[in-house]
Amino acid sequence: MVFRAETESQLPALLAEFASHLNLGDLVILQGELGAGKTACVRAIVADLGSIDPVRSPTFALIHQYQGRVPILHADLYRIGKAPLTELLEGMAESITLVEWAEESLAQHAPRKSYLLKISVEHSIRLINIKEIGTLKNGAK
Ligand SMILES: Nc1ncnc2c1ncn2[C@@H]1O[C@H](COP(=O)(O)OP(=O)(O)O)[C@@H](O)[C@H]1O
Ligand SMILES: [Mg+2]
Repeated sequence: MVFRAETESQLPALLAEFASHLNLGDLVILQGELGAGKTACVRAIVADLGSIDPVRSPTFALIHQYQGRVPILHADLYRIGKAPLTELLEGMAESITLVEWAEESLAQHAPRKSYLLKISVEHSIRLINIKEIGTLKNGAK
């Protein structure tokens, strides 16, 4: 699915349907250049998941946790690269996990479904492309 966003305030409505399908063990990998709006999309999804917690950019090697209808983890792997954080992997099964700057290969660690959310900016319009990339580990449904 592809969404067009002209303002950040449109994001919660645009991403609501997607967020409603997320479940414990799901992973969303967010890609896009610096300033593309990855954190803004996380903020929208976290709000859609029923959390009123403030969403900030996780600084180097830190994982933020929010409480919505389920626990949510938010990390930013900028400059951390491939090495998945142990803490992140440990928490994934009991959370919905949103990771900025992760590579698609992180999907193999997801307990349930994985999605790639890619943002490109054309003039001041954000094109947000979401696709499912993961297979279900252990045949879980
Ligand atoms: N859909 C959007 N429309 C307009 N501005 C946006 C949108 N998404 C993000 N922004 C703005 O772009 C800037 C960078 O957003 P941010 O989410 O921090 O990017 P990233 O996490 O990809 O580096 C912020 O000032 C934010 O308000
Ligand atoms: Mg960010």
